[in-house]
Amino acid sequence: MTNKYIYFVANWKMYGNLSSLNTLDKVIKFSKSKEIKGGRLIYCPPYTLISSFSKKFKSCQIAIGGQNCHESEDYGAHTGYINSRMLKNIGAHFVIIGHSENRKKGESDKLINLKIKSALEAKLKVIFCIGETLSEKRNKKTHSVLSNQIKIGLKNIKNKSNIFLAYEPVWAIGSGLIPKSQDLFKIVEFIKSKFRDKTPKVLYGGSVNPNNITNIRKINNIDGYLIGGASQNAKKFIDIVKKTYS
Ligand code: 13P
Repeated sequence: MTNKYIYFVANWKMYGNLSSLNTLDKVIKFSKSKEIKGGRLIYCPPYTLISSFSKKFKSCQIAIGGQNCHESEDYGAHTGYINSRMLKNIGAHFVIIGHSENRKKGESDKLINLKIKSALEAKLKVIFCIGETLSEKRNKKTHSVLSNQIKIGLKNIKNKSNIFLAYEPVWAIGSGLIPKSQDLFKIVEFIKSKFRDKTPKVLYGGSVNPNNITNIRKINNIDGYLIGGASQNAKKFIDIVKKTYS
C-alpha cells in the first residue's frame, strides 16, 4: 500500500475513434470515487480525439496529453504536423516526446531536444521517453544510452520542473516482458542521479498490466506508469490503479 501520488499515463498510440469515448465514462466515475486514492490520471489519445476527450473530462481531474509535437512553436507550412501551441490550445496539459516508436522512425536526440523546448515554451508538461534496445541491453550499454539520451535531450534546459522522465526499455514495449525488479530499481536510481538539484518524477513504461502491477508497484522509487495496450481497456486501466494502491 502506498500513499504517494502516482501518475498513470494512458498512451493510446494510433488506436481509438469517436466510439471509444463511451469507454471513458467508467474511468470518469472511478476518478471521482475514493478508490482513486493518490492516483493522477492522464490520457494521451490520438490528436483526432484530444478535443473530444478534453470536453469529456471537463468535470473531472483527468488530464490530457498529446503523443508528440512538431519542434517549431511557430505556425507554418508543415503538412501533417501539429505544434505544442496547438496542443495547448485544444486542451492538452502534457505531451509525450521521444517515444521509441518515433525514435525508430528517425527522431534524433537533437530533434527531441528542440521539441521539448518548444513544448515547455507552450507551458505543456513533458513526458520525456528514454530507453535502451535489446541489443544495447545485451551489450551492457543501458547506462551509456540513457545518459546520452538525457544529456542531449535536455541540453540547455535549465528549468526541468515540468519534465517527467519515462523509462521505457524498447524490448519491454508490447512484448509482455518487464525488467527484473532489482534492475528496474537501480536504473530508476541511475536516472534520478543524473539530476543534481530537483529530482524529476520517473515513470516506467513497457507491458504494464493488471497482472504484473502488484510486483512493479513494490519498486518504490517509481513515480508512475506509462501504459500502452492495457490503457485502452477501461477495466484494465482502473484495475492497474486499484492494485497499485491495494
Ligand atoms: P505497452 O504497455 O503496450 O507495452 O506500451 C508501452 C508504451 O509504449 C507506452 O508508451
